[in-house]
Formats: sequence, C-alpha cells, structure tokens
Amino acid sequence: MRQLLITSALPYANGHIHIGHLVEYLQTDIWVRFQKMRGNRAIYVCADDTHGTAIMIRARAEGRSEEALIAEMSEAHQRDFAGFGIQFDHYGSTHSEANRAVCHEIWAALRQADMIVEEEIDQLFDTEQGTFLADRFVRGTCPRCGSKDQPGDNCGSCGATYGPVDLVDPVSTLSGSRPEIRAAKHLFVRIEKMHDFLAEWTQSGTIPTESANYLKNFFLHEPLRDWDVSRPAPYFGFEIPDSPGNYWYVWFDAPIGYIGATAEWCEREGEALDDWWKSEKTEIHHFIGKDIQYFHTLFWPAELKTAGFSLPTQVHIHGFLTVDGEKMSKSRGTFIRASKYLEHLEPEYLRYYYATKLSSKVEDLDLNLGEFVARVNSDLVGKVVNLASRTAKFIAETGLSVDYPDDGGLFERFADRGEEIGAAYENGDFGKAMRMIMELADQANPYVEEKAPWELRKDPTKSRELQDACTVALNLFRTLVIYLTPVLPELARKTGELFDDPLLSWAQAKTPLTGRPIAKFTHMMQRVDAAKIEAMIVESREEGGAPAVESASETSAPAFVAPDDKGEALAANPIAPQITIEDFAKVDLRVARVIAADEVPEAKKLVRLTLSLGGEETRKVFAGIKAAYEPADLVGRLVVMVANLAPRQMKFGLSEGMIIAAGPGGEDIFLLSPDEGAVPGQRVG
Ligand code: 2FM
Ligand code: ZN
Repeated sequence: MRQLLITSALPYANGHIHIGHLVEYLQTDIWVRFQKMRGNRAIYVCADDTHGTAIMIRARAEGRSEEALIAEMSEAHQRDFAGFGIQFDHYGSTHSEANRAVCHEIWAALRQADMIVEEEIDQLFDTEQGTFLADRFVRGTCPRCGSKDQPGDNCGSCGATYGPVDLVDPVSTLSGSRPEIRAAKHLFVRIEKMHDFLAEWTQSGTIPTESANYLKNFFLHEPLRDWDVSRPAPYFGFEIPDSPGNYWYVWFDAPIGYIGATAEWCEREGEALDDWWKSEKTEIHHFIGKDIQYFHTLFWPAELKTAGFSLPTQVHIHGFLTVDGEKMSKSRGTFIRASKYLEHLEPEYLRYYYATKLSSKVEDLDLNLGEFVARVNSDLVGKVVNLASRTAKFIAETGLSVDYPDDGGLFERFADRGEEIGAAYENGDFGKAMRMIMELADQANPYVEEKAPWELRKDPTKSRELQDACTVALNLFRTLVIYLTPVLPELARKTGELFDDPLLSWAQAKTPLTGRPIAKFTHMMQRVDAAKIEAMIVESREEGGAPAVESASETSAPAFVAPDDKGEALAANPIAPQITIEDFAKVDLRVARVIAADEVPEAKKLVRLTLSLGGEETRKVFAGIKAAYEPADLVGRLVVMVANLAPRQMKFGLSEGMIIAAGPGGEDIFLLSPDEGAVPGQRVG
C-alpha cells in the first residue's frame, strides 16, 4: 500500500471559486478518489491562501478585520468545493498557528544555511492609503514607448519589462493619488546557492517534460536571481521573527501552507507530521496550474531541501480553461462562479466533462458548451445509465440470477480492462480512461438491444431469459460505474444503493454480483437541459461574475501584437477642422443600454432602438445599422449615444438621439461600446 499526500494549489481568499479553478480541484479529487479505491492510503489537504495586500485593502474598504473577511471566504470556498463533491481530508488556512510554526522552522533553516540577504530597495508608497504598492496596484506611462495607463511590471503596448518605480507619472490604483518612492529594507532568499541541486531535481522526472525543458534555460545561461520574500509594514501576513516590522511575502508562506494544513490534520488524527513530510514512505503530489510552476519547481524545492523536508514526488501541472475557445469573460457571461453553476446544473456533469478533457500534458482545456451537453447526454445518460434504467425494473421482484449467465465473455472482457483503465487514471490521462470506459459501454448496449428485455417480459415462458439478460446488463453497468466512481461519486453512491453493496474498491469490478435483490430503480441522472446553461450564462453576465482574483494569469496584461494598420481609413476621411474643448463639451455623449431593438418593416436599413440611460430615462433612436447587425443581437449591449441631439421627426417616428459607430457604412458599421464596468447614464468625454 502506497502512502500519498496530495495537494491542490491554495485558492486566494480574496475571490470566489469559479469554473476555471475547478479544473484543478476536480482533477485532484478524481485522482485522490482513484488512489483510495485502489487501496492506497491517500490524504488530500488544501487551505485558503489568505495573506497579502489585496486582502488588507479589501478588509479596510469593507470596514472589518482581515480575520473576519478570510473566515467568510473560507466558508464560501468550502461550500463550493463540497457542492462539487471535492473531498478534502483537511482544509486549513495559511493564517494559522500551525503554518506560522512551519514558516519559522523553514526560515531558521534558510538563515542557518546563510541563504538570507538584505537589500534596500526603492518601492512606490501610497501616502493616502499608507501602504507600499504591489506592481499590480500601480499604473502609469511606459518609460520606453510612452503608452499611457500601463501596469507596473510590463508594457502592454511595446512589451517592455520594468519596475513600478520606472513608470512615468505613476498613479496608485488604490487611491488615484501619485505615489512617492520610498526606500525600504527587503529580505531575499539567495536561491542561487541551490543552483546545482535545482538543475538536477527539475530534470529528474518529477515535473512534466514540457516544464522541465523550459526550466533548463534558466540554469544554462545565468545565475538564479535572489527571491524577494519580505514586505514592510503595513502588510497582512506573519511578521518575520528576526526582522520586526517586516512580513513574509504571501508567496513565501503559501506553499508552506501545504505543510501547515498537514500538521493540523496530523494533530487531529494523532499522526506524526514527520511521517508525512520527512519520511521516504510518503509520496507527495502537488497539482497546480502552469502559471505558478515557477514557485513550485524552484523556490519550493529549494526551501524544502534546505529545511530537511521531503521533496515532491511529482508536480502535476495543468493548463488554463477556455470557454468556447475564449478566455473566460464577465461580459460574455462565461466567468461562471462555482455557486452559480450549482444553482443550475449537476456537479457530476462538469466532473465528467473535465475528466474527458484532462491528460497528463500541460495543455489548456476548452469547455465547449455545446459539446458539454452532447457528451454528458450521449455518454452518461445514453450509454451508461440507460443500461440500468432499461433493465433494473424488470427484475425488481426476482433479483439477480443465482448463477452468472453465459454472456459470451462480456463481463470478463470488462473486468480485464480494469488494469489498463487504472493505469490511465494513475498517469492523469483521465480522457483516455473515459474513452476506454465508453468503448466498453458501446459493447454493453448492443447486448441489451439484442436481448430486448422489454420484449422478453411479454412472454411468461421467457422469465428466466429475462432475469439472465437483466443480470448481465446490470453487472456490466455496475462495472462501468466502478470505473467511473472517482469521477462520478454520486452516481456510484446510487448504484451502490441499487445493489445494496457500496462501490468502494477497484477490485469489486472483478466479480459479478448474483443471487441478490435489486432495489427499486430510482432516477440516476437527468439529461443536461441546454436552457439551464443559457440561464446560467445570462445570470453570470448580469451579475458580472466573480471579482477579479489575484493570480498571475488574470492580472497580467495579454500580449499585444501590433496589427497592420495601413491608414486607408484616415486617408479616405481626413480629420475635420479643429474645434475647441468648449465646442466638444457641447456634445453630451452618454453610455446607454439597448433594451429593445425592432426592425422597421418600411425601411430596409433602419433599426428602431430603445435605449436606457438608467432608471426610467429612455430614448427611441432610429439607426441605419440593419445591414451590419441583427436587431436581436443588440439587446442588452451597451452603446454610446449623443444624448442632447435635437429630436428629429422621421417618416417612421421621432428619433431622440444618435448612437455612435465607426466605419464607412453598409455592412461595415462598428458600434462603439465602453469597456466593462461602465453603466448607462455615464457621461463620455
Ligand atoms: O495562484 C494562486 O491562486 C495561489 N493562491 C496559489 C498558491 S499555491 C500554494 F503555493 F500555496
Ligand atoms: Zn511601452
């Protein structure tokens, strides 16, 4: 029996769990459940990642303590995880005494190894908020190309990388004020001291080949840079014991939270922490996203090694989630919170769909909503559950045949695939495992079709044949569900009830059940209703999805590739004579929402729009955009309108304004919309 300690990345306490996060937690939960079914001793620990400026600022803004805020978020996270059947053996917090103690231990070891160095560095300080500013809380003009409103670490326009203090005209996004430069002492981990160890460890098969190859470059060309692990007060975190007024940076104590959470579990269970983190007998498996591999494959092993903890046996790295081929988006309604999903859909649908898409490669994963409906309905409902729903009721009175009938070797073939399917799970190739299981289902269904129990039941002389056919079908069904149990625990639970024999172990797939009663068949899984997906998307769009989460993948600006703008449009339509600011101010441009869009049958080019400026204020506007837009597609979107244009009587009614668009006309009309966050009634200018 193997002993496994398994973790998922600790979610930040300043954002809710969404379907992007769920890829990882479901992936991990499936793997953990599989290990437990195989008879291994596996524990799954996780915790909230609670420290940092973002939490401190939000708590201040909400007028409460950080502790109150993180307690509420922890509850919400755990509720969401439980709703998806994600079962932790322990869920802790990085803001715990257990974690603090491990941080102290690791810090002492780093000091002892002479790996901590001090340096004064210049940082931007927001005097209104009284805090140093992390890169993402500063915007300003790019020092290289002069583009305005760029983030504190790299320019979205020219791609330059720099520090926040290099920005021209920096502005704090917390207060809108101009921050000043202040020098402060920071503590760094001299990671270069572990260069040779890391060069070897990262190539030892512990991390995916793609990541290992990527890291090779780090080691070949230059020394590893010191890692800045402290932040001066004020900061929500643990104060560094030998450096009063300085706190560990959130990324220092976050991974240590894996050990802190294990320590709490050990305390509760009467286990020794050393058996889990300082012993050869425990395998340690981390599941993480590709955006945080740097922390887990360099800093983390360096710290563990220095402090005498076990190194990860394997770091499983997954890619990002896209929805219908695009990044999750609040305005498209695809930034879907876990809790929102659960209001509309069954968790097992998503568990299965993600499983079909997961492999051991560091690949992005697309949630194609159309495919999601089709997959679940055709595989789970059509191929698997159908086996039971078409047969169980016919043997409710007789139960399963006493001897397992001759099925032409079907059951044996099903049982024989167990090891191969198990190997796919073990390797993280869940998609492959699902395909193998569905191939088996494709063999079971023709058997049922051929035996046609619904016909057999009409002939009383065939009752034995009926019982045998149903016994085979139900045993094949049960084997499929055993193989699906790590993915579909709820279906497994119901199946266990049907046979009065819970599905707990992989080995159960080896022996058919015979001579026992079958419980009354109750509904096991409903088809996915596409209308519910639509409702979920609409509500997610209306509610604006979850607040932004603090993760590198979501905060860094997307790469900008300069398109080939040729200047033809300008040449065709030169700039108008100059006006003064007063001239411009006369034009009252407003954000408006299209609340109705109707065709005007008598006019081929026109659409009649009803625009809301917020509250009761609406305007009717005729716009010549029919060739470019379907009226129905316009409803709900934001536009920019000239709100103080004199009304104009047209043949079809009064037009009370004008909406702003670019383009020469005809099909080439492009309505202007404000960026996300704008609301109807806001003035544009
Ligand atoms: O990226 C994130 O969401 C981090 N909160 C993950 C931390 S994982 C671990 F190191 F704690
Ligand atoms: Zn630039």
